[in-house]
Amino acid sequence: MKESEIKKYYNKKISELRKHNKLYFDQSSPKISDKEYDEIKREILNLEKKYSYLTSNISPSNSLGFAPSKNFIKSSHRVKMLSLSNAFDLEDLENFEKKIFNYLNKKIDVEYSVEPKIDGISASLTYKDGLLVLGASRGDGMIGEVITENLKTISDIPHKITYKDFPNDIDIRGEVFIKKSDFSNLKNNFANPRNAASGSLRQKNSEQTKKIPLNFIAYTYGYFESKTIKKQSEFLKSLKKWGFKTSEHNKVLKTINDLENFHKNFEKDRFDLEYDVDGLVYKINSLDLQKRLGFTASSPRWAIAHKFSADSAYSLIEDINIQVGRTGALTPVARIKPVNIGGVVVSNATLHNEDEIIRKDIRLGDTVKVERAGDVIPHVVLVDLKKRKTSSKKFVFPKKCPCGFDTIKEFNKVTKKYDAVRRCPDRGFECEKIAVEKIKHFISKEALNIDGLGKKVVEKFWDLQLIRFPQDVFNLDYAQISKLEGWGDLSVSNLKFSIDQSKKVSLDRFIYSLGIRHIGIENAKLLAEYTKSILNFLNFIKNKKIGEFLNIDGIGETQIYSLKKFFENKSNYKIVEKLSSLLNISDLKINKNGKLSNNTFMFTGKLSNMSRAEAKSLIEENSGSVVSSVNKKLKYLIIGEKPTNRKVEEAKKLGIKILSQKEWLNLLN
Ligand code: IVH
Repeated sequence: MKESEIKKYYNKKISELRKHNKLYFDQSSPKISDKEYDEIKREILNLEKKYSYLTSNISPSNSLGFAPSKNFIKSSHRVKMLSLSNAFDLEDLENFEKKIFNYLNKKIDVEYSVEPKIDGISASLTYKDGLLVLGASRGDGMIGEVITENLKTISDIPHKITYKDFPNDIDIRGEVFIKKSDFSNLKNNFANPRNAASGSLRQKNSEQTKKIPLNFIAYTYGYFESKTIKKQSEFLKSLKKWGFKTSEHNKVLKTINDLENFHKNFEKDRFDLEYDVDGLVYKINSLDLQKRLGFTASSPRWAIAHKFSADSAYSLIEDINIQVGRTGALTPVARIKPVNIGGVVVSNATLHNEDEIIRKDIRLGDTVKVERAGDVIPHVVLVDLKKRKTSSKKFVFPKKCPCGFDTIKEFNKVTKKYDAVRRCPDRGFECEKIAVEKIKHFISKEALNIDGLGKKVVEKFWDLQLIRFPQDVFNLDYAQISKLEGWGDLSVSNLKFSIDQSKKVSLDRFIYSLGIRHIGIENAKLLAEYTKSILNFLNFIKNKKIGEFLNIDGIGETQIYSLKKFFENKSNYKIVEKLSSLLNISDLKINKNGKLSNNTFMFTGKLSNMSRAEAKSLIEENSGSVVSSVNKKLKYLIIGEKPTNRKVEEAKKLGIKILSQKEWLNLLN
């Protein structure tokens, strides 16, 4: 890459960082996970390391945080509020210690004060003659916001301290946070406890702050001249004596090995803590040594944060529920004690299927490792057997569907093995669980795409017995709906309008909307292209000519078997007939010479003002096609908001063209 291109790329990363800093620090509403944020920072640091001409005053190597909000009066910190550098593994820890020995020019026996790194927001409290005179947020590390009144609402913060040995001028620093149990009442408003704490603390009116229960744990000082206190661990003890809360998990350890072992165990137990912890902080215990070691531009040389994994965490299985999908598959889902994984609070994790439970011997009450990455559903990775109680019993997978039918495991003729998935045999709409899922599928974006009739509404209408079959959607009792909570005249008439609109549907979408197993949108399109009209499609079925679909390139025995099974069921056939009389099903028009012909596209991130389904249709109407993975066949990757970095990187590696939504729409004029 040329120097100008490198600079351009670097500046792009810097403006990304600026944007996310603003969202995180100023608006308390981050749009990316901590891991993604750390990745941007790491990329900037790596670029600076490689190309010495790159600099920015907002680079993590120079800056400490983000400028204070305009809402508050500002105050300069007498001693800067720095951040900590991070360690992710043993090697990072060894390097940290090595650097200390190099700096001191000798190897010494060290003692570390080990403290949980509470995932909240830091605050500095200035006490003069025992009185709390100023409370400030970190701001950009040099200048913070004056939030004294808000901080005073926190009961853990003493307003007056009368101990004789309490210094007459000191800044006490610590973390403001919200307990996990209190967060559960607020989870609809914030992604995680830290955002909730930050949002509450930075309210303009302290009466608002009072409404959200905040806590404060003290761990260090800013301005302070000590003659008697020689160690960080002694300072922590004094803090406790003076009436501050300190962490009950603080301890003193000596070797890197001890730190590593403690970290390993703490990471597993952290879900049991009352508050979120995203790592451990190790500080050289001797305050004299701390003074000698001093600071780099952004962090102390005498301390490091040893982070926990940002995409996995341990938690406890409190219950195992069985969910039934549209195709009858029984999916076990672990209800876990809520745990913060990289900024997202997770309380459900999939256990995939019966075989997976048997293979991993997952049981109720087990402590398990849960992984969450990108948009993938959180899943259980392993069981911590050491934590298993002797009284624990193997989980018995139910042999009956919640609807009462016996379940089956299908035999796969190709692999000559039984399926890993247990299923409720799909008998049309007899199983209530399958039926609701089928209706959800029927109205979904790629099928009939009915605005205002989302999955939750379908569930509600089902419970009220307003719908039992797909055709009931076109015969809703609107008078009754308008009486329901949350439904006004406007929303009812909007719903009516979009249901009417949805009656005009193309043949491929209609076939897809039926929710026949193995007939996804692509296969539905093939069937529609082959049969051309709904009349013709129904004739194939009536005349028992489904086998003829084998002529279609892309349709195999699996699809044929599934179609036959679906239509053998009389009620399914009746539903399709009924729907075909209610709907206006248009023939499939194929345009092979559109603007995008021979071009493949893939999306990552959220598009503005357009659903993925609509974008896909737009591409297909113009003879392009949409693929679902980055590979050599892909020509363009279209990037929306919050794209998956991995996909972008892969595309760059393969030299695939990257387009913004605007650039893509420009291709279509
Ligand atoms: S010491 C100069 N101790 O972690 C070092 N920080 O990136 C000052 N934090 O801004 C911090 N628990 O918000 C320290 N026991 C602890 C901590 C802790 C959480 C936070 C704090 C700080 C950030 C450092």
